Amino acid sequence: MSPKRQPTDSRIPGFYDLPVPQRQALVIERLGLSQTTARHLSAGGGLEPAVADRLSENVVATHGLPLSLGLNFVVNGTPRVVPMTIEEPSVVAAASHGAKMVRALGGFSGRATPPVMTAQVQLWDVPDPDSAGARLEAHRAPITRAADAAIPGITERGGGLRDLETRVVDPGQGLVVVHLHIDVRDAMGANIVDTVAESAAPAVVAAIGGRVGLRILTNLPLRRTVDVVAQAPVEAVGGAEVAAAIERASKFAEADPFRAVTHNKGVMNGVDAVAVALGQDWRAIEAGAHAFASVGGVYRPLSVWRVRDEALEGELKMPLAVGTVGGCAGAHPGVRAALEILGVRRADELAVVMASVGLATNLAALRALAAEGIQAGHMRLHRRRLTPPGDGGGEAS
Ligand code: MEV
Repeated sequence: MSPKRQPTDSRIPGFYDLPVPQRQALVIERLGLSQTTARHLSAGGGLEPAVADRLSENVVATHGLPLSLGLNFVVNGTPRVVPMTIEEPSVVAAASHGAKMVRALGGFSGRATPPVMTAQVQLWDVPDPDSAGARLEAHRAPITRAADAAIPGITERGGGLRDLETRVVDPGQGLVVVHLHIDVRDAMGANIVDTVAESAAPAVVAAIGGRVGLRILTNLPLRRTVDVVAQAPVEAVGGAEVAAAIERASKFAEADPFRAVTHNKGVMNGVDAVAVALGQDWRAIEAGAHAFASVGGVYRPLSVWRVRDEALEGELKMPLAVGTVGGCAGAHPGVRAALEILGVRRADELAVVMASVGLATNLAALRALAAEGIQAGHMRLHRRRLTPPGDGGGEAS
C-alpha cells in the first residue's frame, strides 16, 4: 500500500497548468505508483457501487469529489505529495503555496504523541464518589487484564491499556466517569476503545461500585495530540510588512473567539481535505479540534504565528485521531491509492502530515488576508483556472 520509493522532491513545476491525464501520467511515473493505483487514477478514480453498498446503507449511487495533490511539502525532512479531497476552490493551491513559503527553511517539523485513545465508562449511583479514585487504583490490575484480554490483536502489536483515570463529574448524583487510556497502535481506534470500555466495565464496577451507563470513546483525545512548527523567511511571505500583518492576524485570533473560529476553519481546510482523501473520520477530527480549541474555557486558535529574527514562525497543536489500518482503507480503492501516494505507513506519521497541511492552509489564508484580501486572492486563482495551458498559472505548484 505504500510506494516503492519516496518522491525525491514534492515540487512539480507547471503541474497546475497540465491537463488531468498528463498530471495522472506524471504522478504515476514520479512516485512509481503500483499498477492498481495507476489504473484507479487513469480511470478517473471513483468507487464501484457494490463497494459503496458495503460501506453504507440504502446506497443508490456514489458521490464524486475532486482528488487533488498538495505539492511542495517537506515534513520532518521527507518530501510528501499530499492527496487532498475538497470541493472548495483555492484550498489545494493554498496548501501548496503555504508549503512553498516554508520549504526554504526546511519545511514542517513535528511529532505526534503515542497513539493513545480514551474511552469513557459512565457510572452512576456510585457510593462515596470522592474515594472512587482510590478504589479504582486498588483494582488497576484486574481492570487492565480485562481490557487487554478484549483486544489481543492490539496487545500483540504492543498496544493495550496504558492508564486509568477517575473523574467525579457530579458527586450529588454519584456520577463518576472512568477514563481508560488505550494505545491503539496504527488504528484510529474508535472500535478498539469501545470494545475495551464494554469489556472492562464489569471490572470497573467491581472496583468502585455504582451502575454502568454509557461505554464509548471520547472524541476529545487529549493524550493523542500532534505538534507541528514551520518557519517562512520574511521575504517569502512578501516582506516585513506582510509578516507583521500575519502576526497581528494571529494575535487577533488569540484575543477574539469570533476570529479564532475562522482562523481554525482555515487550518481545518487542509486537515479535513487530507482526512477525506485518506478515508479518515473527519467528523471526529472536527469535533476534537474545536473542543481542544476551547478546552481552557475560551475558544482559541489552534495555531499561532510570530515574527522572529528574519522569519515568520508558526506552531500548531491539536488532537488528531487518525489511522493507517482499519476503517475503510481496506475496502476503498481511492483511500488505498491516496495512502500509496502519500507514502506513510504509521498513524503518527499521517497525523504530522495532516497537521502540517493545516498549518500550510492557515499560513496561505493569513497571507492572502494580510496582503491582498481573500476575495482578490480567490479571483486571481479563478482567472488562472480559466487561462489556457502555457499562458502562466502554476500557483498550486
Ligand atoms: C476560507 O475557507 C478560510 C479563511 O476564512 C480562513 C481565515 O480567515 O483565516 C480564509
